[in-house]
Amino acid sequence: MIEENTLPALAEIECAATLEALEGLRVRTLGKSGSITTLVKTLGAMSDEERRTKGPLIHAIRTTVADAITARKAALEQAALAAQLSRDTLDLTLPAPEQPRGSIHPVSQVMDELAEIFADMGFAVATGPEIEDDWHNFTALNIPESHPARAMHDTFYFPDKDDEGRAMLLRTHTSPVQIRSMLQHGAPLRIIAPGRVYRSDSDATHTPMFHQVEGLVIDKGIHLGHLKWTLETFLKAFFEREDIVLRLRPSYFPFTEPSVEVDVGFALAGGKRVLGGSGDAPGHGWMELLGSGMVNRKVIEAGGLDPDEWQGFAFGVGVDRLAMLKYGMDDLRAFFDGDVRWLAHYGFSPFDVPTLSAGVGTAA
Ligand code: PHE
Repeated sequence: MIEENTLPALAEIECAATLEALEGLRVRTLGKSGSITTLVKTLGAMSDEERRTKGPLIHAIRTTVADAITARKAALEQAALAAQLSRDTLDLTLPAPEQPRGSIHPVSQVMDELAEIFADMGFAVATGPEIEDDWHNFTALNIPESHPARAMHDTFYFPDKDDEGRAMLLRTHTSPVQIRSMLQHGAPLRIIAPGRVYRSDSDATHTPMFHQVEGLVIDKGIHLGHLKWTLETFLKAFFEREDIVLRLRPSYFPFTEPSVEVDVGFALAGGKRVLGGSGDAPGHGWMELLGSGMVNRKVIEAGGLDPDEWQGFAFGVGVDRLAMLKYGMDDLRAFFDGDVRWLAHYGFSPFDVPTLSAGVGTAA
């Protein structure tokens, strides 16, 4: 019985030339109505005696055939692979296709540079929410309701008020971080707060979203001289030039008193403004760069501090403008178009930063 069922099958399996032929043999022997399956089924009709003698044989037959099929299948697959490998040729001397690599956006790069420069002067980086309430964005900064300065900021308001009944808005400047930092950390304090701000405004030099960096120092005996030195030191490091000259002009911001607008001297070279030197020299001029001043007593109070004990200065600068000036870009809108060609041209390699900053993230 064994011979009759197994040997022809084994011989055929050994000779099966393809995987398809082998599969056909498997169906004919071990399939649902295959010869060996049928043989296994005969066990059910046998007497106990008969089953005891034939059972092990029948199972051995099935195992032998199943093993033979598995072995032949592996051999056929191996042969197919070997054949394919000998057919395929692979030229290992070809260079690998280039992987497109991302770059650091100039705004991120400049923010990193700012963080590094100010870290050297003992400033920490602070943050605040972009969705603000009107108390932090205006009232606490001495811009009460109905103050014309509120109208000066073309504010995006949300339709609903928050739980405390405060109007919600997209912050129009980074100055609310002054209030949040004082309330959270008290004094003394030295922070910069880079981030996104929003105003309903759009042309070649204005976009509805742009970036500012706020600076705030609160300590004892702070005066305008500290402000001037800090800005001068920062701008010299940022523009990598020793000949940066500043001019402080009286100005007005509700949250600083006195307030000073800071201009930086430039020279004209080939029709382009190049920072450096006094704006009063022949052929030179002054460019408005940032707003600043001594923190208003009312703002120090809103920050939970005693203005007779603590004084300070604050400043706010456009980060995008700093980037444009340093890296020679002239359309602000291109910053936010997301055109990869622009990024490939103006972006910075995360591995090879050609400035004093290696980037906050990559500095070891
Ligand atoms: N918040 C002001 C602005 O957005 C800038 C500023 C900040 C001025 C801090 C003075 C002090 O224009």
